[in-house]
Amino acid sequence: MQINDKSGVKHYLAANSRYESMTYNRTGKSGVLLPAMSIGLWHNFGFIDPIQNGRDILRTAFDLGITHFDLANNYGPPYGSAEENFGTIFKKDFQNYRDELFIATKAGYDMWPGPYGNLGSRKYLISSLDQSLKRMNLDYVDVFYHHRPDPDTPLEETMGALADIVRQGKALYVGISNYQPEETQKAAELLKDLNTPFILHQARYSMFDRWVEDGLLNTLDKNGVGCIAFSPLAQGLLTDKYINGIPEGSRAAKDLTYLNSETVSSNLDKIQKLNKLAIERGQKLSQMAIAWILRQPQVASVLVGASSSNQLKENIKALDNLNFSEEELKMIEAVIS
Ligand SMILES: NC(=O)c1ccc[n+]([C@@H]2O[C@H](COP(=O)([O-])OP(=O)(O)OC[C@H]3O[C@@H](n4cnc5c(N)ncnc54)[C@H](OP(=O)(O)O)[C@@H]3O)[C@@H](O)[C@H]2O)c1
Repeated sequence: MQINDKSGVKHYLAANSRYESMTYNRTGKSGVLLPAMSIGLWHNFGFIDPIQNGRDILRTAFDLGITHFDLANNYGPPYGSAEENFGTIFKKDFQNYRDELFIATKAGYDMWPGPYGNLGSRKYLISSLDQSLKRMNLDYVDVFYHHRPDPDTPLEETMGALADIVRQGKALYVGISNYQPEETQKAAELLKDLNTPFILHQARYSMFDRWVEDGLLNTLDKNGVGCIAFSPLAQGLLTDKYINGIPEGSRAAKDLTYLNSETVSSNLDKIQKLNKLAIERGQKLSQMAIAWILRQPQVASVLVGASSSNQLKENIKALDNLNFSEEELKMIEAVIS
């Protein structure tokens, strides 16, 4: 909703109903509740994208009770531009709602040239978060992640940097992403010794990528850490959009590294079968794919992306039917295993 101020300038006013239908799940054994669905700004928020569309997506998200926005230093393109656009939108629309929002950013992938703009050194993480806060117009983030493991930096250094970031008040909690179970266990032990609130592991998880079931979810359970599942729709494959070809403007049409026409054609048979099962459940495929992830008790939130607010409105309806019969789970398993 928009209201006019005294000088006629329009302002965003969040929907009064925003907390009425969202489910909030506890993240591991922490005090943090996350919306069952969160929104990520990896795609569609860079300088190459229309900012008004991004603004519409974030307003819609918050109006639906999506309190968690996920960013990273290098989201764009170009790198940094998703954070900068978010900062612009935040200042206009969300400043008054800062305490109702749970905002994440990360560092760990390639960000700036030279030896200090990548991986997991203390030098990189601390300076990257300083840059991110400036771009986003924030004093602190709610959670700061190490984005991927660094095989060459001692884990003590990386976790020590996360601990100091919390002590400096620049992040309230920390997380890791893309760490294997054994690395996760070590990180959890180090962070515990450093009295640092480690609450989230961000991991790719969908019907098409189930690696987390192979040890990671158990490790997280053991350590009281929650999982937030990214790319739950396998970047759009687990929707009905590719069933009759590759629509113009879709992610697969852009022929990106992770999703292209080949990925679509090699998965088409499974997508069609899953789509049929979703229809039988009275859901869209995207909704069934999201609900299927939320059946895991360790998963606090599914982290979706959207190129329009309508996609978000469709996806959120997944929460209306999260239950699966044994029979349905078996039929899904038969397609994806
Ligand atoms: N930690 C990490 O390493 C890491 C890595 C990747 C992502 N992430 C995080 O996870 C977030 C989500 O990742 P993702 O964008 O890959 O998630 P996703 O939800 O699997 O894919 C999102 C894409 O699917 C399509 N889509 C979504 N809903 C749809 C619907 N109802 N109907 C048709 N198409 C639909 C849209 O693509 P179109 O553009 O084709 O419409 C949308 O941009 C990211 O933004 C980021 O925050 C983290």
